[in-house]
Amino acid sequence: MSYSEIEGKYFLSYEHIHQSVRALANRITAEGFMPDLIVAIGSGGFIPARILKTFIKKPILTVGISYYGPDNKPASSPHTIQWIDEVEKKLSGKKILLVDEVDDSRVTLEYCLRELLKQGPAEIAVAVLHNKKKEKRGRIPAEIHRYFAGEELDDKWICYPWDALDIASHEKIARSGIMSH
Ligand code: G4P
Ligand code: MG
Repeated sequence: MSYSEIEGKYFLSYEHIHQSVRALANRITAEGFMPDLIVAIGSGGFIPARILKTFIKKPILTVGISYYGPDNKPASSPHTIQWIDEVEKKLSGKKILLVDEVDDSRVTLEYCLRELLKQGPAEIAVAVLHNKKKEKRGRIPAEIHRYFAGEELDDKWICYPWDALDIASHEKIARSGIMSH
């Protein structure tokens, strides 16, 4: 597995992400947590959740939450692009695995966890690809006892392959292994 750190940014390849999701799935199941449902926080959580489904074969529901407004400026609080509505009723009594790509400020995660807890699930576990080591503004509610992060990273910008305009050059940079792990 390799990723690069260049000019204060991390560049991660698709392969690296796939490998970290596999390791994450192994840790989740080794703990004996088997969710009934995966809930992906879009849009960053969509691809990680789909890869996770390769290893933990459960249905995926999605919620769309953005911390940035339509003009791409940070909003004062996360806003809902799409919520589960009808499907929400399916969450009661269920074990849910909530998936996102990055735990940054933790504000979106907290918002989402509080909303999902209102539906009376049996348990919610959190899985993120990356946790940024920094002071968090949001808090994981006390009801949540399982939190899995694929990797702990310094507080730097992470360039994900799905955001690349030029994927060939992104993968090349990610594999150049300026920093290899
Ligand atoms: P958190 O609760 O999960 O910590 O998320 P937070 O609200 O702090 O994140 C705000 C937005 O910034 C999120 O996107 C998140 O994906 C994005 N973000 C934070 N750090 C990074 C990073 O290092 N790299 C990239 N690529 N994105 C980052 P969003 O606006 O909520 O929506 P979306 O991009 O998931 O659609
Ligand atoms: Mg996100």
